[in-house]
Amino acid sequence: MFNDQTVVITGAGRGIGASAALQFARHGASVVVNDLDAGKAGETARTIHSQGGHAIAISGDVTASGFPEHLMQAAVDSFGKLNVVVNNAGYTWDAMAHRLTDEQWQAILDVHLSAPFRMIRAAAPHLRAAAAAELESGPSLSNRCIVNVSSTSGLHGNIGQANYAAGKMGIVGLTKTIAKEWGRLGIRCNAVAFGFIDTRLTRSQEVQEESIEIDGREVVLGIPQKVRSMLDKDIHLRIPLGRPATNDEAAAGIVLIASPLASYITGHVLEVTGGMGI
Ligand SMILES: NC(=O)c1ccc[n+]([C@@H]2O[C@H](COP(=O)([O-])OP(=O)(O)OC[C@H]3O[C@@H](n4cnc5c(N)ncnc54)[C@H](O)[C@@H]3O)[C@@H](O)[C@H]2O)c1
Repeated sequence: MFNDQTVVITGAGRGIGASAALQFARHGASVVVNDLDAGKAGETARTIHSQGGHAIAISGDVTASGFPEHLMQAAVDSFGKLNVVVNNAGYTWDAMAHRLTDEQWQAILDVHLSAPFRMIRAAAPHLRAAAAAELESGPSLSNRCIVNVSSTSGLHGNIGQANYAAGKMGIVGLTKTIAKEWGRLGIRCNAVAFGFIDTRLTRSQEVQEESIEIDGREVVLGIPQKVRSMLDKDIHLRIPLGRPATNDEAAAGIVLIASPLASYITGHVLEVTGGMGI
C-alpha cells in the first residue's frame, strides 16, 4: 500500500506514533522516525530494520526553530521523496483553567499546533513541487498527504485541558485550511481525533511515574489515579466498545486515512474513539 513512499512521523519513539511507524513500514513505506527521545526513536527504527523494512531515526524537538526543515530535508536526502507527514508528537500538561500558567498554555500550543503548522510549511516545497510536476505530465497523481493528530478533548473540550483542547481544536481548522489550499494539487490533509488510548498519557500518574523534560523542566505525565478510577468505573456508559484502544488500533486510524484507499477523503476528522461521544 505504501511501496515506494516516504512517511515522516513525529513522536514515533513510543505509543501511537511507534505503532504507526511499524505499520507504515509493514505496508512498504520508508519511514522517518522522529522523537524527542533519541533512544526511543532509534529503537523504533531498529525494530523496522529487524522486520526487513526501511527507516531512519531523526531525533529532535518538533518545536525547535529550523527543525521541521531539517527533518523534511533528511527524509528527501535519505529516500528521494516525501509522501506522507504525520504530526503526532505531543504530551499533556494539565491544570484547571484558572490555575493554568502562561508557560503551560504556550508549551502545549507550541507542540500541538505551531509545530504541526511549521512541519506542513517545511513539507510544502517537497510535496507541492512534486505534485505540480506530476500534474504537468498527466492526471494520475501519487499518494501525498498530511495527517494531523487531534483529540476528543479538542472536539468537545475536557476538564483540566484548556491548553490541550485549544491546540487540538486549532489543528482541525489548520487541517481543513490545508485541505482547501492544497487540494488542487491532489494533496490531502486529514485529522485523526483519538478518544481514550492506553498510553502513558492516560495511565495513572501514581502507578507509572512517567515524565517528559521540556526546557529543563520535568512535566509529570498521565492522569491522577482518582480521575483514572472514575473513568474506568463508568467506561461502558462513556464508550460503546467499553474499553480504551490499544496503540495498534489507534495507529491503524492514521494509516487508514493516509493510505491510497482514502484518495478522495480530505479535510476530514476521523474519530477513533470506540464510539465515545456519538
Ligand atoms: N493517549 C490518548 O488517549 C490520546 C488521546 C487523544 C490524542 N492523543 C494524541 O496522540 C499523540 C500521541 O500520543 P501518545 O498517547 O502515543 O503519547 P506517548 O507519550 O506514548 O508518545 C508521544 C511521543 O511524542 C514524543 N514527543 C513529545 N513531545 C515532543 C517534541 N516536542 N518533539 C518530538 N517528540 C515529542 C514523546 O517523546 C513520545 O515518545 C499525541 O499528539 C497525543 O496528544 C492521545
